[in-house]
Amino acid sequence: MTAPQRAKPCFAISRLTLTDFRNYDSLRLTVPAGLIALVGENGAGKTNLLEAISMISPGRGLRGAEAASLGRHGGEGAWAVSARVEIPSGETQIGTAWSPSETEGQSAPRAVLIDGHLQRSAASLSDHMRLLWLTPAQDRLFAGPPSERRRYLDRMVSLLDAEHGTRVSGFEKLMRERNLLLTDGSSDMAWLAALEAQMAEHAVAIAAARIYAVSRINTSLTAERIPSPFPWGRVSLEGEIEALVENLPALAAEENYRRRLHEGRSADRAAGRTMAGPHRSDFLVLHGPKGVVASEGSTGEQKALLIGLLLAQVDAVTEAAGARPVVLLDEVSAHLDKARKTALFGLLEGFGLQAWMTGTEPQVFDGVSASTVVYQVDSGTLHESKF
Ligand SMILES: Nc1ncnc2c1ncn2[C@@H]1O[C@H](COP(=O)(O)OP(=O)(O)OP(=O)(O)O)[C@@H](O)[C@H]1O
Ligand SMILES: [Mg+2]
Repeated sequence: MTAPQRAKPCFAISRLTLTDFRNYDSLRLTVPAGLIALVGENGAGKTNLLEAISMISPGRGLRGAEAASLGRHGGEGAWAVSARVEIPSGETQIGTAWSPSETEGQSAPRAVLIDGHLQRSAASLSDHMRLLWLTPAQDRLFAGPPSERRRYLDRMVSLLDAEHGTRVSGFEKLMRERNLLLTDGSSDMAWLAALEAQMAEHAVAIAAARIYAVSRINTSLTAERIPSPFPWGRVSLEGEIEALVENLPALAAEENYRRRLHEGRSADRAAGRTMAGPHRSDFLVLHGPKGVVASEGSTGEQKALLIGLLLAQVDAVTEAAGARPVVLLDEVSAHLDKARKTALFGLLEGFGLQAWMTGTEPQVFDGVSASTVVYQVDSGTLHESKF
């Protein structure tokens, strides 16, 4: 992380509208750029609001929930989130909404509109908004299952390479098709070979994007630091495909993995899944000063490392997008001591970015700047308040 530069432009939400989203019936909010504190008791709707904001980026938002589960209980099932977003080149109106469809029912995808134009997929949101978040669920990132870390990794990569998410879901779709062909005992060898060739192409592109992103994040993580209580760290990738891509020219890596799939057909058929590929990779985080893997740190140390990782991403995204991202921090100060908390608020303010932070009590925000806008959240309603 390098010293903050105040002059950088920022992505920022200026207006936000929620309709039948979780416990929000109808919310209209006009907000300034800068720090925003959401204060409210358990169950008030703080995380729901951050989740609604997270839906204006590609993917399933900060809880990873299905679109069909986001509609307000007691409502019709349909929901909508709309935001006016300040971007470096002007303003954009982003809308996303979901309702069950006649053909696809509850599994219908959400619709995305940018300046009134319906988009082919949510992937185009990354051209108009950059969002990062830190949630209590991530406290288990280092010690939890590799699948969660991979999801985190791929989101981190997507922030730097807008095509990454599409490649990952494309690979997963091809893999599901291959698994189905194998377990069905299909003899369509030409189709199987075509799927494997496409999987290999996707896998190499996925690995290359991960390698680039990890190296970019490491540059920020280990850069000369301003005095900061967030430890520096080092991120590394652990995966067969990433190792191939690092050691072979792209075409050779692709051919190698394609052959591996071909030769692994009977083992994969017996296992009912594809055993090698970018869907098995993991990433490791090393606590720099201590030289140990992150999972060995205390809860507070792990949180501080996650914040260090978030700040490194802010740095990398700012360089890639030419503007600072919006940051969503859910209960971020839990586990942080006073010095770290004050340092974090100071860094965020120094960056000049828009940060939405939640806490159950005003005291959680002790040490935050007086210019922070405070909202009291209560059963899906918001009122501007003061500390
Ligand atoms: N689809 C839904 N419709 C209506 N209410 C919902 C829906 N989904 C979740 N809720 C409710 O929304 C409430 C607020 O949840 P949220 O997670 O935002 O609370 P919070 O303010 O973050 O609380 P905490 O401080 O405990 O984290 C919960 O009581 C939850 O049951
Ligand atoms: Mg919450």
